[in-house]
Amino acid sequence: MKVLLIGSGGREDAMAQSIIKSPLLDKLFIAPGNGGSPCERVNIKASDVDGVVNFAKNNSIDLVIIGPESPLIKGMADQLEKAGVLVFGCSKEAAQMEGSKIYAKKLMLDNKIPTGLCEIFSNSKDAIDYINNVASKTGTPIVVKADGEAAGKGVVVTSDPSVAIEAVKDIMDNKIFGHSGDNIIIEEYLDGQETTVLSFVDGEDYYIMPPSQDHKRAFDGDKGPNTGGMGVYSPVPVFDEKTKEFVENNIIKKTLKALKDRGIYYKGVLYTGLALTRKGPKVVEFNVRFGDPETQVILPLMETDFLEVCYKTAKGELKDIDIKFKNKKAVSVVLASNGYPGSYEKGFEISGIEEAKKLGALVFHAGDELRDGKLVTNGGRVLNVTYVGDDYKDCIEKVYDCVNKISWDGMFYRKDIAYRVLR
Ligand code: GLY
Repeated sequence: MKVLLIGSGGREDAMAQSIIKSPLLDKLFIAPGNGGSPCERVNIKASDVDGVVNFAKNNSIDLVIIGPESPLIKGMADQLEKAGVLVFGCSKEAAQMEGSKIYAKKLMLDNKIPTGLCEIFSNSKDAIDYINNVASKTGTPIVVKADGEAAGKGVVVTSDPSVAIEAVKDIMDNKIFGHSGDNIIIEEYLDGQETTVLSFVDGEDYYIMPPSQDHKRAFDGDKGPNTGGMGVYSPVPVFDEKTKEFVENNIIKKTLKALKDRGIYYKGVLYTGLALTRKGPKVVEFNVRFGDPETQVILPLMETDFLEVCYKTAKGELKDIDIKFKNKKAVSVVLASNGYPGSYEKGFEISGIEEAKKLGALVFHAGDELRDGKLVTNGGRVLNVTYVGDDYKDCIEKVYDCVNKISWDGMFYRKDIAYRVLR
C-alpha cells in the first residue's frame, strides 16, 4: 500500500513510526514532515488541499491519513474522496465538532451529553456585561472560548474578571483570531482531573483507546501558561472501568448517534477531552484528530497494526478488526525551546538522541529540521521522549534518564510528568 501522511508534528512522527512497521506498507510519504521523518518527505503544506489531492492522484496513493485538524476543517477529506482517494479523516461537516465550539456545545446540550453550561455571545458588550454581572459572581474561574479555530490558543481560564474581559476584547474586538472570534462562549468551569479519550470511529462503530492524561501548563506543578501539552501518560488509573462505562454510554455512543441523526457519517478519530468532576465525567472539548502529545503514548501501547486499523476505518470496516493494546504503561516528556509557548529562538543543534534510544527511549520528532546534515531546533515543542514499561515508577525514572541524554542550548522540559500517578 502507498500511504500519504499529512502533518509535521510529534503526533505525525509517532504515526509515521508506527506505519513504517506495517507489513501492509509499500511506501510512506509525509507532507511536509520534519527533520526526523522516517520516510520520504513531500514539500506540500498540510493546509494545501489542492496540493495534497493532486499529489495523491498523481502518485496513485492508496490511503491518505490526515493528522492535524486544519485540513479536515478545510474539507481535505471531502476533496480527496471526490477525487476517488481513500482517506482516514472526517468530512468538513463533521470537523465542525472541533472547528466550531458552539456547534459542538449545541450538539451536546441538545442530546443531553454531559458538559459545562454556557452562554453564547455575538458582541463584546453583552459578553462583558455577563462577566460583570453573572460569571464573576459564581466563585469559580471564568472560561472564555473563541468559537472557531485558534491554533489551540482560543481558550482563556481565569479567576480574574478583568483578564476575562481583556480576552473578550482581544477575541471579539481586536480579532486576534480573525473570524474565529466573531462569536464566543462563556462556559461553566469544570473542576476535576482532565483525561483524553481517543476513539477510532466509523459511523456508529467505534473503538475506545486507553485513556491518557496531558500536562497542559508550561511549568512543574501545573504552573505557567497553557501550552499544546508538555507531557503525557497512559493509561490513567483514576479512569476506572466504571468511568469508562459511563463515558462510553453517555458520551461516545450518544455523540455518534447525534452526528448520525444530523446526517453526518463520522470517520477517523474522535478526541474527547473530559473533566472528571465530582458530578461525573463531563466533556470539555471534542477534537477531530489524534491528540498531541497523547498519540506519543497511545501508539507505542498499540499492539495491532496501526496502518491496518486506519485502512479498515477508512473503508468502513472498523468492526472487522480486533484491536489490542499492550498491558503496559507509557510516559512521554516534551522537550521544548526556552520561551515556548511564547517566542523562542530556533536553529540550535540537538545532540544525544541516539544515546537516549540506547536506553530504551522512543524519540518522536516535532519541531526540528535537518540543516547541512545536522538536526536543529525549528519549533516550540521540539522532541517527545517516550518510555514504555511495566510500572509507572520505573517508566518515570527511565524516561527522565533518557531525557537527560538529550540537549541543545535553551532546552527545557517539565520534571514532574506522571508524578500524580505515584501520589
Ligand atoms: N494535547 C491536546 C490536544 O491535542 O489538543
